[in-house]
Amino acid sequence: MKASDTKATLSFSNGGQPVDLPIYKGTLGPDVIDIRKLYAQTGMFTYDPGFMSTASCESAITYIDGDKGELLYRGYPIEQLATNCDFLETCHLLLYGELPNAGQKAKFTDTVTHHTMVNEQMQFFLRGFRRDAHPMAIMTGLVGALSAFYHDSTDITNPKHREIAAVRLIAKMPTLVAMAYKYTVGQPYMYPRNDLSYAGNFLHMMFATPCEEYKVSPVLERALDRIFILHADHEQNASTSTVRLCGSSGTNPFAAIAAGVACLWGPAHGGANEAALNMLYDIQKAGGVDKIGEFIKQVKDKNSNVKLMGFGHRVYKNYDPRAKLMQETCREVLGELGLENDPLFKLAMALEKIALEDEYFVSRKLYPNVDFYSGIVQRAIGIPVPLFTAIFALARTVGWIAQLNEMIGDPDYKIGRPRQLFEGSPKRDVKPISAR
Ligand code: CMC
Repeated sequence: MKASDTKATLSFSNGGQPVDLPIYKGTLGPDVIDIRKLYAQTGMFTYDPGFMSTASCESAITYIDGDKGELLYRGYPIEQLATNCDFLETCHLLLYGELPNAGQKAKFTDTVTHHTMVNEQMQFFLRGFRRDAHPMAIMTGLVGALSAFYHDSTDITNPKHREIAAVRLIAKMPTLVAMAYKYTVGQPYMYPRNDLSYAGNFLHMMFATPCEEYKVSPVLERALDRIFILHADHEQNASTSTVRLCGSSGTNPFAAIAAGVACLWGPAHGGANEAALNMLYDIQKAGGVDKIGEFIKQVKDKNSNVKLMGFGHRVYKNYDPRAKLMQETCREVLGELGLENDPLFKLAMALEKIALEDEYFVSRKLYPNVDFYSGIVQRAIGIPVPLFTAIFALARTVGWIAQLNEMIGDPDYKIGRPRQLFEGSPKRDVKPISAR
């Protein structure tokens, strides 16, 4: 951390002693005021429940400039990565800090490819679930269960264990997501194929059957690979912070990532892609483009609890750069499948246009986020709606594990332990039950 020449001084209106607080500068983005000694110096905590102004850690992985609508992985703009690199190169970048050269890429791809199978017992574990279980319920269970199968990579204090756990998680997530899908539709599981790319193999495990040859479409393969790249990491979002907090207790990486999967499930986070598509379906059913005005009215009504899903973001106060790339992919995929006139895509474009011109959205700086178009792409590929968030989890696993390993690798890391402003009853005595 680089200390700034400037210091912050906290003064109190009751004449209490002012406190000087150090300020640190990052390479990009806002400086931070170091309040670690504040409690010792003043007996007070800071209060910031939704982390609106709090940097929870130091990190060198992902940087977002929300005002500019800029996203960098290890310094590289997301647009360049999505256009020039594939997902496994991006994984290498996030995990090790640099894009691989040709030799490193071949080695990393080979390593991931040779860890894609899961223990055969996993399918018996899967059988315990109802066939209609939500894929995220299944994924939370399956990912947590990995820790019961890979005892040789659960010691997070051992860098070798951390590395092999990272590879295993990245390699096995597609297999687990595809198994969760096959289970719900009652089809046989398809084993991974080592001659296919990461995204191609996922398509194979999802859509192939043992009855006939399945040909991977290069356009769909590339589209899925791009979805993976765009979702690979996103700084200290809710699920990543969950993984860090969970991992800070020293738990094993599989358990920490399972906590991230659980957090991602929520509709304000990863569940928004599913919610956004369901919202489009609802508007379509109600009458389509003609009903947009009525829908927007409901969204603006504070008592309705209706949100424009796929819009708004805690950090982006500009167009989410991932949404732009996703819209481009959406056009490509629909073109490939002969669905240029897809009514849901048209509806989404019309909804976006109207929202972007509406004072409510303009004044609150609400723009489309990555989830606004990713559902349309996934649906066109043939991925069922309830599986969308599981695909997000698959892609985000590399970000979670890179952030977890960054935290654990820092010799100064401590268990995360927030404090509180207590608003409950002061100390009181228990009365006998007859007197309560
Ligand atoms: N539709 C209607 N109003 C909205 C929306 C929306 N999608 N998002 C925010 N607002 C309003 C909100 O009601 C508030 O209005 P007011 O100032 O009058 O009270 C104002 O905009 C600020 O919103 P906020 O809830 O304080 O902002 P936040 O940073 O706490 O929430 C968010 C961010 C993403 C949870 C929220 O924008 C949202 O719920 N969006 C819809 C869900 C969604 O698309 N989530 C995906 C996020 S991107 C993928 C990911 O990273 O997981």
